[in-house]
Amino acid sequence: MLLNIYGNYEKLSTHIADVISETIKNNPAAVLCLATGDTPRRAYQLLAKKVEEKKADFTRCTFIALDEWVGIPPENAGSCRYFLENEVFAPLNIMMSQVYLFDGMSRDLAEECKKMDNIIAANGGIDLMLAGVGMNGHIGFNEPGISPGKYAHVAELDEVTQSVGQKYFTGPVTIKQGITLGLQHILQSKKLIVIANGAKKAGIIKKVVEGEVSSVIPAGIVRKHPDGAVMIDAEAADLLEKETAL
Ligand code: F6R
Repeated sequence: MLLNIYGNYEKLSTHIADVISETIKNNPAAVLCLATGDTPRRAYQLLAKKVEEKKADFTRCTFIALDEWVGIPPENAGSCRYFLENEVFAPLNIMMSQVYLFDGMSRDLAEECKKMDNIIAANGGIDLMLAGVGMNGHIGFNEPGISPGKYAHVAELDEVTQSVGQKYFTGPVTIKQGITLGLQHILQSKKLIVIANGAKKAGIIKKVVEGEVSSVIPAGIVRKHPDGAVMIDAEAADLLEKETAL
């Protein structure tokens, strides 16, 4: 596993944006799976700048969603779909015809999972997955205790995820379940980059990078990935044994 530590969030975001734009330069029809959330936000803004300056072109890529809250409609600003539409698809000129998302409002969530598994297989797998790390070590909505054999599934969200997740919403919401790609999708993606920033993530990053690899810290799966990388800023790296920031 590659571990890259950047001096600050801006440098981290610049590198993430560069890796994504290199990926589509080398493979314009790449299948991308990019997380929502606070961590990648700046990288997406930097990518949008590249698109504006015609230094990146996403018109041929395919986009697969990583996850969605169950029961939160797409027009809710806290939904993953809302984030993606506003912070990724519109700024990067990605059309909805290139995109496969989870419908967290579906009455048949099991079917929704099956559909996504089939879409990923039909597209030849995910070329690049960019994932954040939850405060409890989740990746996507693969919560602590998840079986490593899973593909897309409905997750019962643990208390940390339910409470930390409130930050995305304008008022209190009940978020008990999520729908997510599984650890098998994450493991089978051709390249996996796990990202984190800020002092609040230092404790969990220490467990991801230096702790035992087990289902207790699902994001630790990055250490089993043949092309897995952890890219973090100096604050998130603060509790690691000995590392030098790039
Ligand atoms: C979002 C997702 C989550 C987040 C994680 C970190 O699509 O899959 O696993 O990546 O909860 O969230 P932030 O970046 O907001 O700290």
